[in-house]
Amino acid sequence: MASKITVAIDGYSSTGKSTMAKWLAAEVGYRYIDSGAMYRAVTLYAMRNRLIDNNRNVDQVRLTEALTSIRIDFCRDGNKQKTLLNGENVENEIRMMDVSSNVSVIAAIPEVRHRLVALQRELGKDGGIVMDGRDIGTTVFPDAQLKVFVTSSAEVRAERRYKELLEKGEKVAYEDVLANVVERDHIDETRDESPLRKADDALLIDNSHLSREEQNQWLLDRFNEQC
Ligand code: DC
Repeated sequence: MASKITVAIDGYSSTGKSTMAKWLAAEVGYRYIDSGAMYRAVTLYAMRNRLIDNNRNVDQVRLTEALTSIRIDFCRDGNKQKTLLNGENVENEIRMMDVSSNVSVIAAIPEVRHRLVALQRELGKDGGIVMDGRDIGTTVFPDAQLKVFVTSSAEVRAERRYKELLEKGEKVAYEDVLANVVERDHIDETRDESPLRKADDALLIDNSHLSREEQNQWLLDRFNEQC
């Protein structure tokens, strides 16, 4: 049997790349890692410990000191994945709007990125992994055998996110969700440290008008071309 490859799936927020990545991992028996959840967990830690204020000013010195004592793990709960922050299940909390509003600021801090990139490389060192994020194909695994970059229009993405939040019982306005999507894109694309961008050798997929089945099939076909 061919050795297991590394699959890097990057792209804009709320493009459904996690759903795609999770599906492929289950389909081919690989491990799925949601790198965004790691940035969200650090953000939640910073919020709980008042290392970020309401104006999104971060106490970078204290956050950097705290990084070594932040443990992030993933565990499976049936076919759901749970993110653990120092042993506590924070899967639901890290998806809330207040965390979404702060996460790009935390994710732009170089020390945070260095720490999380090191953890991500450790998790993927043996291959057989599908990891999604913003810089997986460019920075975390530049040698990944399959790189995909997912995009879709900001309106389509905001609509998806809005529905997800409503389903979870969070009361939000569509306009606020759209503003958050657009703002996160901007911060992610313009930060100095490994900004969001398509790796030169990544395959581009715009899923604005694709069904979930169509995009899954496209991804599986690309995967099979590598294996
Ligand atoms: O994929 P997501 O929306 O859960 O990611 C949350 C935030 O984390 C997003 O605003 C950008 C950041 N992120 C990042 O900078 N690098 C990654 N590899 C993954 C996420």
